[in-house]
Amino acid sequence: MLNTIKNKILALYSDLVCQLKRWQHAKNLPALEKRDRLILDTLKRDGVYVTTLADLGLNSTSELLKAASEQLLRMKNVNNEHLEQKWPQIHTVTGLPEFSTWGTEKRLLNIIENYIGLPITFHGVHLRKDFPSDNQFGTLLWHSDAEDRRIIKIFIYLNDVEEKTGPFEYIPRSLTSIFSLKYWRLYYQLWKSSYMGIDDEEVKKIISKSAWKSCPGAACTVIFVDTKNTLHHGTVRTKTRSALFFCYTANPPERPELCTQYWDDTYPRAELLSLSDIEKSLV
Ligand SMILES: [Fe+2]
Repeated sequence: MLNTIKNKILALYSDLVCQLKRWQHAKNLPALEKRDRLILDTLKRDGVYVTTLADLGLNSTSELLKAASEQLLRMKNVNNEHLEQKWPQIHTVTGLPEFSTWGTEKRLLNIIENYIGLPITFHGVHLRKDFPSDNQFGTLLWHSDAEDRRIIKIFIYLNDVEEKTGPFEYIPRSLTSIFSLKYWRLYYQLWKSSYMGIDDEEVKKIISKSAWKSCPGAACTVIFVDTKNTLHHGTVRTKTRSALFFCYTANPPERPELCTQYWDDTYPRAELLSLSDIEKSLV
């Protein structure tokens, strides 16, 4: 009990220090073009901004898409038909320049630094396939991510995503202000789940389903989201969904140990897989 109180006080103190650093850094934030300020303002209000690769218009997009198609073809088919819970198949593609170049485009970094309010770091990219499931587990449960106090993840759909493909879904931040009872009820349920996530039935009791925002979209839809401060999940699906996940936090993040998965050996790394292909072709 004493330890819990001590940890809570330490956490509040480090949040306060972080806020002070944000105030100090405010004068150093990069200027944004009008179109990018709209992304920032929407993120601040709702926690999510949805656009497309074409509308974003970043220079390295065509290389990114070409590399993503190639890497998708390299992903081996997994034998998970018999499994009750089909966990996502993830490859780390951070080591391939087409992905890291897109992820570190200056315009993106400027938007994200303005949102996080501190110097930022780009952790990396996952290429991910999410499989059909008719029950909620893992990231299909409503949850918030834990890497930092503010996190930006950018999701890019690599195939058309409609209801049966399981779109990303979220609750706008404006509906879950920290000063509202709903916020405390939701986070109490999350705490009871040990932050593993809560199902639709629990969330429905607090926020009506009509207020949930689903994000279907064609291939190349881009979703910016603060996955820490926006309750979110992937919806149950009958068709596989492929997507890229880019991750950014303040530098350093609150929980650096949760960020290594974007570049370490937690998941197969594309550049090593490519190397083994080259070696095989030389034999
Ligand atoms: Fe998440």
